[in-house]
Amino acid sequence: MRVTVSRKAHFNAAHRLYRKDWSDAKNIEVFGKCSNPNYHGHNYELIVSVTGKIDTETGYVIDIKILKDIIKTEVEDSFDHKNLNVEVPEFKELNPTAENIAVVIYNKIKPKLESALDVEITLFETPRNFVTYSGQ
Ligand code: NI
Repeated sequence: MRVTVSRKAHFNAAHRLYRKDWSDAKNIEVFGKCSNPNYHGHNYELIVSVTGKIDTETGYVIDIKILKDIIKTEVEDSFDHKNLNVEVPEFKELNPTAENIAVVIYNKIKPKLESALDVEITLFETPRNFVTYSGQ
């Protein structure tokens, strides 16, 4: 019996989608408004879901307080109110699309949890646009 426990979180961040090796014209053609050289912001909504067996002693899959603290340390403290391209080392050479942000978040959180636990990241860039990544 495996049960999924989820925690929601939130951060605001700025980004610009572009490739240094492309011209400004090609960046605008491919990334549109998201390639604005002056950056723009999103209110990111994050759901971290952890799946595993219920511990028979505690009745928990994971103590949600532990998950909350990991999200704060690994995501909120690093990303909230930051310019992802400029201030977050993971995106120095990586385009900060929602897809790549979800993978970076997964790679930061997964090693902090017991290895038997599966993790899925759901990241909303807007209320209608979201991506999921679970390590495949
Ligand atoms: Ni954007």
